[in-house]
Amino acid sequence: MNIHALLVNRFSEALQKMGVENAPIPVSRSARPEFGEYQFNGAMALAKQLRQKPRDIAEKIVEIVELDDVSSKLEVAGPGFINIHLSDEWLASQCEISLADPRLDIAKSDEQNIVVDYSSPNLAKEMHVGHLRTTIIGDAVVKVLEFLGHKVIRQNHMGDWGTQFGMLLAHLSDKLQEEVAETALSDLEDFYREAKVRFDDEEGFADRAREYVVKLQGGDKQCLALWEKFIDVSITHSEEVYKKLNVSLTRSDIMGESAYNSDLANVIADLKAKGIAVEDQGAQVVFIPELADKEGNPAVYIVQKSGGGYLYATTDLAAMRYRSGKLNADRTLILTDARQALHFKQTEIVGRKAGFMLETQTYEHCPFGMMLGSDGKPFKTRTGGTVKLVELLDEAIERAGKLIAERDNDLSEDELNEVAYKVGIGAVKYADLSKNRTTDYMFNWDSMLSFEGNTAPYLQYAYTRVKSLFRKAGVDMASMSVDITLVEKQEHALAVLLLQFEEVISMVSREATPHILCTYLYDVASAFMTFYEACPMLKDGIEPTTRDSRLALSALVANTLEKGLTLLGIETLEKM
Ligand code: ARG
Repeated sequence: MNIHALLVNRFSEALQKMGVENAPIPVSRSARPEFGEYQFNGAMALAKQLRQKPRDIAEKIVEIVELDDVSSKLEVAGPGFINIHLSDEWLASQCEISLADPRLDIAKSDEQNIVVDYSSPNLAKEMHVGHLRTTIIGDAVVKVLEFLGHKVIRQNHMGDWGTQFGMLLAHLSDKLQEEVAETALSDLEDFYREAKVRFDDEEGFADRAREYVVKLQGGDKQCLALWEKFIDVSITHSEEVYKKLNVSLTRSDIMGESAYNSDLANVIADLKAKGIAVEDQGAQVVFIPELADKEGNPAVYIVQKSGGGYLYATTDLAAMRYRSGKLNADRTLILTDARQALHFKQTEIVGRKAGFMLETQTYEHCPFGMMLGSDGKPFKTRTGGTVKLVELLDEAIERAGKLIAERDNDLSEDELNEVAYKVGIGAVKYADLSKNRTTDYMFNWDSMLSFEGNTAPYLQYAYTRVKSLFRKAGVDMASMSVDITLVEKQEHALAVLLLQFEEVISMVSREATPHILCTYLYDVASAFMTFYEACPMLKDGIEPTTRDSRLALSALVANTLEKGLTLLGIETLEKM
């Protein structure tokens, strides 16, 4: 059920009856319960066109609009707002429908092909915290889009190509004299460091590294085999992280930079033929007047270096063309940190000029801020090194395990391990997902693992509360009565919230902002706690029909929390 969409429809029908066509239909949530749940704010804007006072228009709309089934009261307020109070009967009937439906009565959208470019680590090194946000946020967005019925094509645009591989391959070929690739590359950070030291200090090594680059780009068989070994081991490292993180990326989603290598010359040729790229000091560049500086000098976007080498930008142009033409992407979403915003803006302008995308296809860079340490600086290890993701996640599981063990529980050893894993990983993911992605955020173990506030443990706990309620009641959630009657104001408030799930999900799918879903789930859990206090279920003297109705509402809470957390990539538990 999408209440907002339903109201928009009804008001637009009413306006049509009044002879008003194509007017905007501003329906929004009310700020306070006294004003009802929703407001229609369109009367004021019609005053001129209809030559009437806004309040009179509002009165007229109230007379005409067909909301008898939905609303218990419509009232005109202030200069001409219409407050909409939803009726208990209607809310109850909608909750019953949601409860009986595995999709929670959430409609599918018109199917689109949506490319989501996320995670995309650089394979020269191990995955570090810099790739946590893109991986987690991207995966949540993907799950929401799929739930809404879209065809999502994951594109893991891994950094698996480029000059640094010359140095790495030269070093690897030496190491393979004595050991196998898996051993040599068991710690990619060490490996990278060793190679870099040799590159900087060892006589002749830098030249060999450059030879390797040339050979690699020229398609030399031996060199390619070495490269494949390297990236295979590195991908395996990433897969370990994905598995731990419960992220849905697989090998088949990898479409790394190397995949576009053979198309880069065509991209340049095309840009030159269309007069978009021009030579400048030996390089091929595109001037972008749309992004000129204060003096009016156009931005310069380099697509080929003077030595003939290609760049990150060239690859992204090739990727754009591939996604548009071969994958038929109606939308392309790219998740990287905000520092790349200019790059994608330029890429879009240049790519569109070159006709690499259709006008109807969108190119949406979804930037995010940085993860900061408690000192407010970019997150680092105590000694100032980059934090390996695997180690961070292991620490989360360990910390969660300690916390759970301290709490009063009757969990077996195995159960405790499972809870520690789900809570630890859930906490890290949720801490990230729950912040508006565009801002930086501070990584803090204590607040993310807290059982109070907007955290994963709080939500996971709320879910287990409902589950244990059903165990105590001896009622099977799947086969209970679904007759709901709303009486108390806490029941009313909870029902309204539960029926706003679809609105929330569609917002997340439009804006790629999972934090909206997090806030929503937190509100649902909090409203449930309030309801639970005010509306007893298992106390003596409670009428069976009242008890069953309240249990039904609680079941819908559980279903909503579970669906929401699953979409966020966070696992639920039966008890904790
Ligand atoms: N590998 C890049 C990085 O680590 C991210 C790639 C994002 N996707 C893209 N199409 N450029 O910063």
